[in-house]
Amino acid sequence: MKLVIIGTGFVGVTSSAVYASFGHQVYGVDVDEGKIASLSRGEVPFYEPKLAPLLQSGLSSGNLHFTTSYREAIEGAHIVIFAVGTPSREDGSIDLQYLETSLKQAADYLQPQTIVAIKSTVLPGTLDLVKKIVSERCPHQLHYASLPEFLKEGSAVDDTLYPDRVVIGVEDDFTYRLLEQLHAPLKAPLLRVSPASAQLAKYASNDYLALRIVYANVISEICHHAGADIDEVLAIMGSEKRIGSHYWYPGLGYGGSCFPKDVKALAAYTKQFLSDSENLFAFINGLNNKRPLQVLNKLEQTMGGFHGKKIAVLGLSFKPNTDDQREAPALFIIPYLLEHGAVVTSYDPMVKAIASETIGSQPNYRQLPSIAEAVAGADAIIALIEWQEIISFDFSSVKEAKKQYLFDVRNQLIPEKIKLAGFYYLGNGRYSK
Ligand code: UGA
Repeated sequence: MKLVIIGTGFVGVTSSAVYASFGHQVYGVDVDEGKIASLSRGEVPFYEPKLAPLLQSGLSSGNLHFTTSYREAIEGAHIVIFAVGTPSREDGSIDLQYLETSLKQAADYLQPQTIVAIKSTVLPGTLDLVKKIVSERCPHQLHYASLPEFLKEGSAVDDTLYPDRVVIGVEDDFTYRLLEQLHAPLKAPLLRVSPASAQLAKYASNDYLALRIVYANVISEICHHAGADIDEVLAIMGSEKRIGSHYWYPGLGYGGSCFPKDVKALAAYTKQFLSDSENLFAFINGLNNKRPLQVLNKLEQTMGGFHGKKIAVLGLSFKPNTDDQREAPALFIIPYLLEHGAVVTSYDPMVKAIASETIGSQPNYRQLPSIAEAVAGADAIIALIEWQEIISFDFSSVKEAKKQYLFDVRNQLIPEKIKLAGFYYLGNGRYSK
């Protein structure tokens, strides 16, 4: 089969490399010439474990190609998959400009019976817009599908190779059969549904996971006031089969390129038929936005303010195993610390430079190349992101004679060990320990 994937972000590159590994001819398309050049050399322009070797083997097998030419990619293609970004607009609704532009560019080259599949995260109803844009430019009979993606950054390759399910939103048997054939090597359950159900299920899944995180953070806050321990409470709740113990460790709220955007999107979408007091998604978004300050204030109170204090922030990405800083907590925490008079050092295993010129150029801020250098002389260390290197670091090896706080934002350290090393330990909803 000849496949085209439009858009070479996390989803586009990973899907291209995985489909190529099944023996298909895959063309990845992007307007960014630099990105296409680097992908064609076998270099992934962002950090994603396991992706580079898969990309390189696709290129050397001759199955995988990258190009800026829609014509070269689409001529003779059986399936054209759109995996471009759908960012948030100011009011939280989704911005479809990249999807619209790429559909217009592709439409001229689509041939009869081609399947146009949308992998980008879009709301129900978007397929009507897709059909309208394409049919205005392409006279042929085509097929349409919604093919939502459920991979996570940091484990994108494994999530794509071993998905819990593949959701295929289609309107006809021909489209389903071809997409069934494409995904057969995954040996995952294939769920055939309508395009609208596929599109809504993607948002409903992400927003439910976001809700779990917000819920865990609210319970963590209650633990703080009630003298209870969040680990104990979640362990008890998680042992109940209907609840399960996964995916709700507390922290500073969810970040990244998906949850914040997808919660805001449903909040904006449901405004049409839910009143403000019924809008669960707006409420989730509001609670998540409040979380970083709620947590940071506790450290501030415990330390008697940040003014003149040296604070080391460990972890600049939005989560471990990625260099993505979109909606990363460091981008909120560091400016807050600087504004309140702290001198801030930081460290991250993969992020080369903080994604903010305003922070990067401040005289009281420095990013250092190792944990030991970042924490030297620190009055407080904030273990912000649970990179393995950070949570397995021997903090006793850097303990200094003065009083030092260690704030374990995601409860990943062993409090007894940290206290034994002489630190004042603060956890998240773990205050009774
Ligand atoms: C998320 C979903 O998990 C994927 O299923 C989905 O395909 C993807 O969005 C997408 O729509 O493209 P991702 O944003 O890569 O994936 O990251 P997650 O691992 O889900 O983490 C999201 C945020 O939640 C991070 O800030 C993470 O630190 C936070 N989190 C996660 C918690 O605070 N607690 C948890 O228990 C889990």
